[in-house]
Amino acid sequence: MELTKAKLSDIPAMQKLVKPYIDEGLVLSRSDDEIANMIRSYTIARENGKIAGFAALYIYTPKLGEIRSLAVAKARQGKGIGGAITQKLIEEAKFLELEHILTLTYRASFFERLGFKIAPKEEVWHHKVWEDCIRCKHFPTCNETALILKI
Ligand SMILES: CC(C)(COP(=O)(O)OP(=O)(O)OC[C@H]1O[C@@H](n2cnc3c(N)ncnc32)[C@H](O)[C@@H]1OP(=O)(O)O)[C@@H](O)C(=O)NCCC(=O)NCCS
Repeated sequence: MELTKAKLSDIPAMQKLVKPYIDEGLVLSRSDDEIANMIRSYTIARENGKIAGFAALYIYTPKLGEIRSLAVAKARQGKGIGGAITQKLIEEAKFLELEHILTLTYRASFFERLGFKIAPKEEVWHHKVWEDCIRCKHFPTCNETALILKI
C-alpha cells in the first residue's frame, strides 16, 4: 500500500468508492468540481495502482484544519488503511503548522485510538456548519461526535 496525493484523474474512482457511504449518510456528497477544486487536500491509499481509500485535510483557519471525507473500500477495511491515511494527514497538518485538527464522525473510537479527544460540538460548530452541515441530510439533528486533535 502506498500513500500519495490525489490526481484529478482519480476523481471518478474516488466517487465510486465513497458512493455507498454517501448513501448511508456517513460521508457528505461532494461534486466532481468541488473535489477538483480541493484536489490538493486529498491523500489516497493505493494498492497495486487501485484506490483503497482516501481522505482530505481541509483548512479552516491558519490554526485549524479538519480531516474529512475519510473512506476505505468495504473489502479493504480493518487492515490499517484508514489509520495510515489519517496518520499521513496528521503529519501534513504538523508540516503546515496547524494547531488543531477537528473531525465529525460516527466512528469516534477510530479517531480516539489516533489521539483525538471528544469535544463539545459547539466548539467546532461555527467552523463547519455553514460550509458543510447545512448540506447534510441529517442537518440539524446531527448524531455525529466531534473530536479534536491538538498537534
Ligand atoms: C472509518 C474507516 C475509514 C476506517 O477505515 P479502516 O481502513 O477500516 O481503518 P483501520 O483498519 O485503520 O482501523 C479500523 C479498525 O481495525 C483495527 N485494525 C487496524 N489495523 C488492523 C489490522 N492490521 N488487523 C486487525 N485489525 C486492525 C483497528 O484497531 C480499528 O479499530 P477501531 O476502529 O475500533 O479503532 C472505514 O471503516 C470507512 O470507510 N467507513 C465508512 C465511511 C466512514 O464512516 N468514514 C468516517 C467518516 S469521518
